[in-house]
Amino acid sequence: MRVYLNGEFLERSQATISVDDRGFLFGDGIYEVVRAVDGRLGAAELHWQRLARGLAGIHINRPAGLTDGTLSELAARLLAENGLDGGDALVYLQITRGAAVRTHHFPPAATAATVYAAATPFRAPDAIRARGATAITLPDIRWARCDLKTVNLLPNVLGKQQAVAAGADEAVFVRDGVVTEGASTNVFAVFGDELRTYPATNYILPGVTRHVTLEAAAALGIAVREAPVLAEELAAADELFLTSTTNDVMPLVAVDGRPVGSGRPGPVAERLFAAVRARLYAEAGYAMVGR
Ligand code: PDD
Repeated sequence: MRVYLNGEFLERSQATISVDDRGFLFGDGIYEVVRAVDGRLGAAELHWQRLARGLAGIHINRPAGLTDGTLSELAARLLAENGLDGGDALVYLQITRGAAVRTHHFPPAATAATVYAAATPFRAPDAIRARGATAITLPDIRWARCDLKTVNLLPNVLGKQQAVAAGADEAVFVRDGVVTEGASTNVFAVFGDELRTYPATNYILPGVTRHVTLEAAAALGIAVREAPVLAEELAAADELFLTSTTNDVMPLVAVDGRPVGSGRPGPVAERLFAAVRARLYAEAGYAMVGR
């Protein structure tokens, strides 16, 4: 596999970073995961916007020349060099504050950021979508800047592991009695005619798929309220679903062992999934037929 590291395309086995890298020592970096179909990125501009906001948010200077355009070109080249320009793939991009003598405060201004990117094959979890995913709820023990997509993912890692150990697919975080988001997904609820999801504040990641789903809901005439869902309301939801780059729209059929609504994937999630998937393939120049 060929990867990108600091301006070079090279074999993965040759791609090494310093033990002083601040991503390694402090989790001092930002990342993105972007979907690709036939070599074309899904919602690239939204991912690059969020990346720029994250870099600014933690005061990492974007390396010179690393524009949105060059990021997309870099991703396209990685996909092509790895034979992933046909079919589904993921592009992972990470930018850290670089390698320097370990100090908590920022290293000298001349320290070059570390830029790493890789492309991997991807299979959408369509089998899980057909049966519906399950989740457990857990206290949201994360910091108050969950809107920044930093590589500091320890609460997410621990939460997801707890979910998997419990035989569930996702951990849904609850802060002060309110559902915020999943360990690696945003959470939506359907109550009657209304779709509800936590507002885009500092307590959630502003998911690209969340954004696309909200646009799809508006286009379909589904009423949306960006307002908190209480943990105690979960049992009364007609439908719950998750959104993310790797899940598109994923219905939740049980939370903490209790069925959601009918206990089967619901119609609102199904319609929104179809719309979100259609947009992804349309971006790659496809009709939905046969996908
Ligand atoms: N996770 N919330 C969190 C905490 C996430 O980590 C993610 C994405 C999302 C959904 O965002 P998006 O729709 O932009 O993928 C919400 C990625 C996929 C990951 O860490 O692998």
